[in-house]
Amino acid sequence: MVTSLSSASRSRPKKPLRIAMVGHAFMGRAHSNAIRQVGRFFDLPFEVVPQVVVGRDPERVEAARQKFGFVEGSVDLDAVLAREDIDVIDVATPNDTHGPITMAALRAGKHVMCEKPLAMTVKEAKAMRDLAARKGVRVALWHNYRRAPAASLAQRIIARGDIGTVRHVRAIYLQDWLASPDSPWSWRNDRALCGSGAHGDLNAHLIDMTRFLTGLEFAEVCGMEETFTKTRKDGAGKRRPVDVDDAFAFLARFDGGAIGTFEATRAAPGRKNYNQIEINGTKGSVRWNLERMNELEVFRSDDAADCQGFRTVMCMDGPHPYAANWWPDGHIIGYEHTFVHTLADFVLSLKGRKPFHPNFDDGVAVQAVLEASQKSAASRRWVKVRA
Ligand SMILES: NC(=O)c1ccc[n+]([C@@H]2O[C@H](COP(=O)([O-])OP(=O)(O)OC[C@H]3O[C@@H](n4cnc5c(N)ncnc54)[C@H](O)[C@@H]3O)[C@@H](O)[C@H]2O)c1
Repeated sequence: MVTSLSSASRSRPKKPLRIAMVGHAFMGRAHSNAIRQVGRFFDLPFEVVPQVVVGRDPERVEAARQKFGFVEGSVDLDAVLAREDIDVIDVATPNDTHGPITMAALRAGKHVMCEKPLAMTVKEAKAMRDLAARKGVRVALWHNYRRAPAASLAQRIIARGDIGTVRHVRAIYLQDWLASPDSPWSWRNDRALCGSGAHGDLNAHLIDMTRFLTGLEFAEVCGMEETFTKTRKDGAGKRRPVDVDDAFAFLARFDGGAIGTFEATRAAPGRKNYNQIEINGTKGSVRWNLERMNELEVFRSDDAADCQGFRTVMCMDGPHPYAANWWPDGHIIGYEHTFVHTLADFVLSLKGRKPFHPNFDDGVAVQAVLEASQKSAASRRWVKVRA
């Protein structure tokens, strides 16, 4: 019996969007999962293709290619950039390489999706932003937490005025993997490779989330940092200096009068990925925590006087951002889905004129806050934020 073709299978194949991903460890795993999943859950204008995984060691690249499902592996980034069939370069490497890899990709006319923090300095971030603008390509920064459904809902609630004028931002990002002095040294402990410690790693997310949720810009900051463990052993047993912060806290004033407190640490025993933000406005509050990422706590002072209190909204029902792309109501999603959402929105933006956020303008703004608070911590004074 001959089965008739469905209209879907008769429709014309989509144009491929071929991605080359540089780096294939933690974020390589998260990004490649997104690259493979995105077309199964989102209707996109392109077929997203995991074309090349790029690294430095041929054996590890081949292992990554097989595991992550790329068509090809390469240890020659220049050769990959020279190819006309590669559309997007995805940068999933340590922080000191974001600038050089991104600049080379932009010079080759590629769209770029870059991991955070965008750069090592504001100056470098601006050069990346300006070259992207001159080349007329699209760029993205992987601040994936914006696209947790509950965080996106919080943005929607604040933007439509439900909690009134924002007065307080209270943000903390706590981890514990460097609490022990015996935790090994890695590139994340070397200023030349990462720029800063918990600050650029975790506060960068909090700064981006604050700008996303509130639309506020940072005016001035006052920072404090500490390195509790001054040396650590590397994989070969050699003791290496640690010249970045284990913990970094700062106060902030925003344009328009709101105030904020920010704290990031990798030395808080028991706290694994405790990424939390609370926003208080004149008429209500919202609180979100990544460790309960599908829930949003909402307080509204216009609720009946005898029913006031924080309510917990489960954000995986039909009206919630991204929920309809996944499963029936209440069937929850996880960390990896935030990367799928980021990629889906970026691919959708390639067909339209609407700019994707966070882009390199946002990256420059985040970098300016990071840098100003580092200057403040060093000088023990308030420092104005100038992007
Ligand atoms: N968005 C998030 O939630 C999130 C989470 C973790 C890390 N990150 C960011 O992602 C980036 C990568 O972090 P990670 O945790 O994946 O690090 P990682 O150490 O797990 O992996 C780094 C990868 O880059 C490769 N690499 C290093 N130098 C390279 C070079 N010069 N050329 C090509 N490949 C190179 C390594 O071989 C490895 O495959 C960092 O900038 C980090 O801040 C973001």
